Amino acid sequence: MSARFSFTDSISLIKTIRTSGTITPSSPILINRLLKPIDFSKAKCIVELGPGNGCFTRELLRRMTDDCVLVCFEVNDEFVDQLNALCDPRMHVYNACASSIREVLDELNIDEVDHIVSSLPLALIDDEVVSNILASARENLREGGRFLQYQYSLKNYSDVKPVFSDVKLKFTLRNMPPAFVYECIK
Ligand SMILES: C[S@@+](CC[C@H](N)C(=O)[O-])C[C@H]1O[C@@H](n2cnc3c(N)ncnc32)[C@H](O)[C@@H]1O
Repeated sequence: MSARFSFTDSISLIKTIRTSGTITPSSPILINRLLKPIDFSKAKCIVELGPGNGCFTRELLRRMTDDCVLVCFEVNDEFVDQLNALCDPRMHVYNACASSIREVLDELNIDEVDHIVSSLPLALIDDEVVSNILASARENLREGGRFLQYQYSLKNYSDVKPVFSDVKLKFTLRNMPPAFVYECIK
């Protein structure tokens, strides 16, 4: 996996720091760490929350089989245009809040999803919205599915922990800034 960092990406993130919560895209090491629990040979539907410039999206699409679907939720119009420019028929990009997972899955006739990959800046999102997003993530995952989230602090660990049967916590220094990785199992 090659790093696809550019100053244009950073400028877009800085301009939108209140909703992006960062100034640089995630590193290839963080991307590998977060995606490690996914068995791509079996996954049929993956949801991505807060894809931003698409650094996780491109890697998900690279690893996914031809019959796996990726559903992305991104609130920033500029990033939505960049994601749509990837032009991959397996991907559905919604300019919508991550709390609307069920409505979008209904539109696509999808009952449940295998895994949810989230770059959402939970620490910057209202508590009520965070709890809706987490509850909806759990409800829409298949039994044994993973909710994979990274965060630069442990601020929302206590929100995430009670929602899932098990939460494994890891940490990597090899990102700017260093990040905690949550592997949450339904
Ligand atoms: C930290 S950036 C992540 C970008 C990229 N995935 C990465 O890891 O470098 C967070 C992204 O979440 C998006 N976002 C913030 N709140 C959101 C929400 N409620 N629903 C969907 N996307 C949201 C922001 O617009 C931003 O693109």
